[in-house]
Amino acid sequence: MAPPRKKLFIKTYGCQMNVYDSERMRDVLAPLGYEPSDRPDDADLVILNTCHIREKAAEKVYSELGRLRAHKDEKADTDAPMTIAVAGCVAQAEGEEIMRRAPVVDLVVGPQTYHKLPELIAQTHRARGERLETEFEPVAKFDALGGDRHVEGYSAFLTVQEGCDKFCTFCVVPYTRGAEWSRPVDQIVHEARQLASKGVREITLLGQNVNAYHGSPPAGSEADGPWGLGQLLHHLARIGGLDRIRYTTSHPNDMDDALIAAHAELDCLMPYLHLPVQSGSDKVLKAMNRRHTFADYARIIEKIRAARPDIAISGDFIVGFPGETDGDFEATMQGVREINYASAFSFKYSRRPGTPGAALPMQVPEDVSSDRLQRLQALLETQQSAFNAQQIGRRLPVLFERAGREPGQLHGRSPYLQAVHCKAPAELIGKIAEVDIVAATRNSLTGALSAEADAA
Ligand code: 5AD
Ligand code: SF4
Repeated sequence: MAPPRKKLFIKTYGCQMNVYDSERMRDVLAPLGYEPSDRPDDADLVILNTCHIREKAAEKVYSELGRLRAHKDEKADTDAPMTIAVAGCVAQAEGEEIMRRAPVVDLVVGPQTYHKLPELIAQTHRARGERLETEFEPVAKFDALGGDRHVEGYSAFLTVQEGCDKFCTFCVVPYTRGAEWSRPVDQIVHEARQLASKGVREITLLGQNVNAYHGSPPAGSEADGPWGLGQLLHHLARIGGLDRIRYTTSHPNDMDDALIAAHAELDCLMPYLHLPVQSGSDKVLKAMNRRHTFADYARIIEKIRAARPDIAISGDFIVGFPGETDGDFEATMQGVREINYASAFSFKYSRRPGTPGAALPMQVPEDVSSDRLQRLQALLETQQSAFNAQQIGRRLPVLFERAGREPGQLHGRSPYLQAVHCKAPAELIGKIAEVDIVAATRNSLTGALSAEADAA
């Protein structure tokens, strides 16, 4: 769907470099619906792309801002208020000073950071409580939460959080789904109770950034601020009938101590964590705007494993992000070896026009990305097979969800989210039973009902 058209006026000062940057700014803003205009007075977004070389450059910018103020005031109470940005070298040199001296300025962008503009514009709209319509198309493959996921009988999804404020430079979610928003605890509890009363035994709490959850506490609670995911999990754990709780997808920076502790404290919180790292290279992580290093990620995994030693770790990876060298890719391979994943998703970087990543130089050739993806997937598959093989000889509680493909067989899930096939009577559908695991492949386990099977 095409976003509503908005007018963009850019005034460029100074050198050829700035003329080039202004062009790039027009390019990155097009998917947000901005079309170039040659009039500042009725523009929705005005950018002064400044230059510091000539004397009095800053003064010229201030007097231009004075003129713009009148236009901005005129549009202030309309449904199309004006946003004013100062970019380029003056912005770099006196960013804070500009904001102080000219409150009419909404945002300041340093030189060579035009690729940050979509993020900054989206943030400015959010601060004013407006939603930014864009032409980004969510891609189901990358949008793990795309569409409504149906209730599979005994295992259901429950959305607790939407949107994202992280702005990873490859991702459209912050633009398509908007700002982070958490549902109030009471609403979630109400829905979880309803699900449990319909026979649901397992819920997976969903959110693009689920561990950034910060919802209003329940009525009557003495909490003076929002609840985090750890608290929410403790609360949901008390609902009778819900034997299993999971959550996805998380960002490493939001893995707080209360949430990590919940993995040690709550038996119903399943020992499985999907925690994407995307790359093992700090340089690539920085370019992706992930805001953490690989060592930070490894430390978090270490803490989680200390809390819940058997936890199955899953992740997401992107290969071929712009600028990724052979060395960066090797760092990803090394990181995967270090963490040792139970399962993972891996993708070739896909250039999403309008995201900051699409404007980066040094896009990686297709054949190089394909080759890296193949190598990474081979390694991840080996780890997944090994993780599954480790279950042979163990007795695991399996939640049977439906009939299996073969007659007399049921399909269920282990605590680690592995698919389990097992010969069992149909009455066990919707129940948890102990299964002795006898065989494993990369994608599933096979087991036999334990002799002492004590269906709950
Ligand atoms: N290219 C490749 N992978 C992407 N993902 C999101 N956007 C892109 C993109 N432009 C992947 C990330 C994310 C997962 C849901 O999809 O790995 O964690
Ligand atoms: Fe996208 Fe996830 Fe990054 Fe948010 S945290 S921008 S949803 S990849």
